[in-house]
Amino acid sequence: MPFTFVPGQFLNVAFGIGGARMNRSYSISSSPTQREYLDLTIKREPRGAVSRHVVDLLKVGDLIEAGGPVGKFTFDGTEAENIVLISAGVGVTPMVSICRYLTDRSWPGDIFFIYTCRTPADYILGKEMAALERSNPKLHVAVTMTKAEGTDWKGPRGRITKEFLAKTVPELTKRRVHICGPATMMDATKALLIELGVPPEQVKMELFGATKPAIAPAGTTAKPSATATGPTVTFSQNNKTAKIHDGQTILELSEELGIGIENSCRVGTCGVCKVKMTAGEVDQEVQDALDDDDKANGIILACQAKPKTEVTVEA
Ligand SMILES: Cc1cc2nc3c(=O)[nH]c(=O)nc-3n(C[C@H](O)[C@H](O)[C@H](O)COP(=O)(O)OP(=O)(O)OC[C@H]3O[C@@H](n4cnc5c(N)ncnc54)[C@H](O)[C@@H]3O)c2cc1C
Ligand code: FES
Repeated sequence: MPFTFVPGQFLNVAFGIGGARMNRSYSISSSPTQREYLDLTIKREPRGAVSRHVVDLLKVGDLIEAGGPVGKFTFDGTEAENIVLISAGVGVTPMVSICRYLTDRSWPGDIFFIYTCRTPADYILGKEMAALERSNPKLHVAVTMTKAEGTDWKGPRGRITKEFLAKTVPELTKRRVHICGPATMMDATKALLIELGVPPEQVKMELFGATKPAIAPAGTTAKPSATATGPTVTFSQNNKTAKIHDGQTILELSEELGIGIENSCRVGTCGVCKVKMTAGEVDQEVQDALDDDDKANGIILACQAKPKTEVTVEA
């Protein structure tokens, strides 16, 4: 492979589907110690545009466009002496990369891998985790299934609870915790951890993106019904200016105007929607994809940016 990565990082991939360019992010599920190739593990969403394209249509030998690696939701064993990895559904992928890497490196710390899904058939990379557990005595795997009735699952059942966490991880309050999964699961789990006394700064999370696709794909010019009263945004490369609606992001306004700012996660994680702001000020709730250089150079995330003043962006 022509690059290295840190366990927990992801790639931004782009596909041309039905004449539209679509960007999505996928965590690398293999270990950086595997140098010949890398694995992306992609869950087919029943109505998903890109995941169905990948799972149903991509063939061996097809080329895909990918950028990266990117992401700060990483762990290579230098950040703490032990680690708790909690995930649900396809949020397991960065956790498996971390477990594979730490196992390959014979990392001496304890790794607590906690996972929840509906049934045994939904346990993504379950066989790989079972094999890792057999080969690494420092890896402690605890999986709980929420819809195991009628299956041969013999392990814990139900959602992740305070009792489950406290029983599974001794001295939990002293440990660093990573969580990845649906937004509701991550928020609920973080709240449980805080109730158990884990300091919030010890808890790291990564959101895998918006649960619903963009309301108005670029070029559809689907305009909200109310008149916009917010600050003016100028898209200098397109020579277009418009007032922003209350609560609207620069990305959403660009879509309304038919300006194609590329985007993927729409939650501030992937960095695909980075644009340069040459004038004005914005609020950005999540800035995970921006580094110090970006901030110093006026780069903003269009999917997060809500103008506080008149703004000009290079788009
Ligand atoms: C940092 C990061 C890492 C990620 N890592 C992974 C990974 O390792 N593996 C992985 O599988 N995914 C991962 N994702 C998620 C991935 O990027 C995509 O969001 C996911 O594959 C869905 O894309 P899609 O094009 O298939 O779905 P989209 O077309 O974008 O649809 C998104 C969701 O909306 C639903 N939907 C679509 N149309 C409708 C409709 N009309 N009405 C109601 N619902 C609808 C779909 O079923 C789907 O659940 C990651 C995301 C991020 C940000
Ligand atoms: S679209 Fe991913 S950070 Fe904005």
